[in-house]
Amino acid sequence: MPSVYINTGRKALTDLPPRDPKVRSFHESLPHYRPTPLAALPEIAQQLGIQHLLVKDESSRLGLTAFKILGASWATAKAVAKRVGLKSTGVGSREDLENELSLKNLASVAQAAELVLYAATDGNHGRAVGRMAKYLGIKARIFVPTMVDEEAKSKITSEGATVEVINGDYDQTVLDTKLAAEEHEGGKGLLISDTALEVDDEIPQWIVEGYQTMFDEIEEQILEATGQQTITHVVAPVGAGSLSSAVVTHFERTSRSTKPTIVTVEPESAACLKASLEIGKMASVHATFTICTGMCCGTLSASVWPILKDGVSVAMTVHDGEVDEAIHLLQKYGIYAGPCGAASLAAIRKLARVEGIQLSPNSVIVIFCTEGERGYQMQI
Ligand SMILES: Cc1ncc(COP(=O)(O)O)c(C=O)c1O
Repeated sequence: MPSVYINTGRKALTDLPPRDPKVRSFHESLPHYRPTPLAALPEIAQQLGIQHLLVKDESSRLGLTAFKILGASWATAKAVAKRVGLKSTGVGSREDLENELSLKNLASVAQAAELVLYAATDGNHGRAVGRMAKYLGIKARIFVPTMVDEEAKSKITSEGATVEVINGDYDQTVLDTKLAAEEHEGGKGLLISDTALEVDDEIPQWIVEGYQTMFDEIEEQILEATGQQTITHVVAPVGAGSLSSAVVTHFERTSRSTKPTIVTVEPESAACLKASLEIGKMASVHATFTICTGMCCGTLSASVWPILKDGVSVAMTVHDGEVDEAIHLLQKYGIYAGPCGAASLAAIRKLARVEGIQLSPNSVIVIFCTEGERGYQMQI
């Protein structure tokens, strides 16, 4: 299988949901908020023959080591508010948040309703949901597939959540978690899922919406980093596809006359987006081991497929060896990435060698380091 697929079906997206200004104010109200760095990697840019390579470094985000808390926190806030019938009061001023989506207010209503948060995860999302449960003073039950390692499990339990292992892969875990949440006594289970089983599932869409804060920050940082607003390419890692759909949505909504080319990267062993684009409809693959645990999904989120099929220009795969090399290269420049966090660099290094792909001395490429350093075991 070739590792690069050019999506000839790429077209402009219409009818995208409007940007919700409350997302950013909500994140700013959370403990440990500060923008994550947009770091320039000039030596790698030179090696690739491009103008700028910028990495949005999410290895320290809202007190955790991955970007996922942006989505999990916003989706939890919205889901709790909806479950208990909190009314939306305005357009996102600090006063509104104090009245409505403040942690204090959410904690008091979530505790009164005795809510228990549920999540299926291969690591980072579950830890983020566990952190939200801790902030709200409620319980969380987090379900993981067998391939999740001890380090990831103990990070989840360190938030006070329980971890339950499902004898199966990530897709199976998603189904079992949904059932467990639905069966929770008294209807008090609240599933914070980052992947949709139905196209109009609301909570996964709030997860996608929560990632907006990263792009708001990039828009504020790009001028200082490069002296210009231009971005020619954005590379997004894909598991269930929420992050990449947030990337497409943001750049389609911006007023740039030339939209950046959106490149996605998946592990060779779990490339459900690339497989779907190749046949023109959503397809599942049998996902097998990869060091990129967070990207080991066999099925896309149902709600992201309509966006990705039109908005992604190039879908790539990388193998674990390429990711391992990229991790070490990033370390040389002071970026300490876990495997998912280095996958975008692995992809762009590969793309630079593919004929017919237009990387040029004018290219300004943004990649995402989605998680910080963590242990991993290469399979031989
Ligand atoms: C660190 C990391 N990077 C990338 C991804 C992929 O994100 P998505 O599932 O939204 O495609 C995940 C998903 O869990 C992740 O944990």
